[in-house]
Amino acid sequence: MSEATFMREDMERILLSEEELKEIVARIGKQISDDYRDSTNKLILVSVLKGSVVFMGDLMRAIDIPCYIDFMSVSSYGSGTTSSGVVKIVKDLDTNVIEGADLLIVEDILDSGRTLSYLKKLLSARKPKSIKICTLLDKPERRVVDLKADYVGATIPDAFVVGYGLDYDEKYRNLSYVGILKPSVYGGEA
Ligand code: PRP
Repeated sequence: MSEATFMREDMERILLSEEELKEIVARIGKQISDDYRDSTNKLILVSVLKGSVVFMGDLMRAIDIPCYIDFMSVSSYGSGTTSSGVVKIVKDLDTNVIEGADLLIVEDILDSGRTLSYLKKLLSARKPKSIKICTLLDKPERRVVDLKADYVGATIPDAFVVGYGLDYDEKYRNLSYVGILKPSVYGGEA
């Protein structure tokens, strides 16, 4: 049996197929292109590692206006699956000066909102002209801080999702779909 079959068997069901993800990316890419087309500022897409890399790779190619990319890596001082909101910068932006630029933070998932809320504050202090959030997945039920994304691919229920960049214990990131993991895989309740 192939590794792909093994991974598929760990899924309770597929939440977003490869085809649906393509449609989402095309829709958001067009929306972003239209929204920023007339801006004279530099548009910088900031991908938050690692979960957003797959989405970022597809999204940037669905944007048809000039844009730049940069990456940040953060680690949250949380326990288990809950982030505390205190975020350590593991890798900062390469771009020294973002003053006057249009920043678009690209994330795979917006959960409690703590990570993005912290990041938005941190980056706002560097005086970009604008700062917006684009998330592939949004789990509004889990929100503990008041934060809304400007672009949302799909609003999803509070389930353990993996694939298309998202992991469980660093696994499943390379799936071309987003699936709901079987609770038996992570020792949860069925
Ligand atoms: C995920 C996701 C966000 C954060 C969202 O990252 O990419 O950064 O959690 O959670 P929050 O809204 O509750 O703050 P994760 O820490 O799993 O790292 P990864 O992207 O490297 O998988």
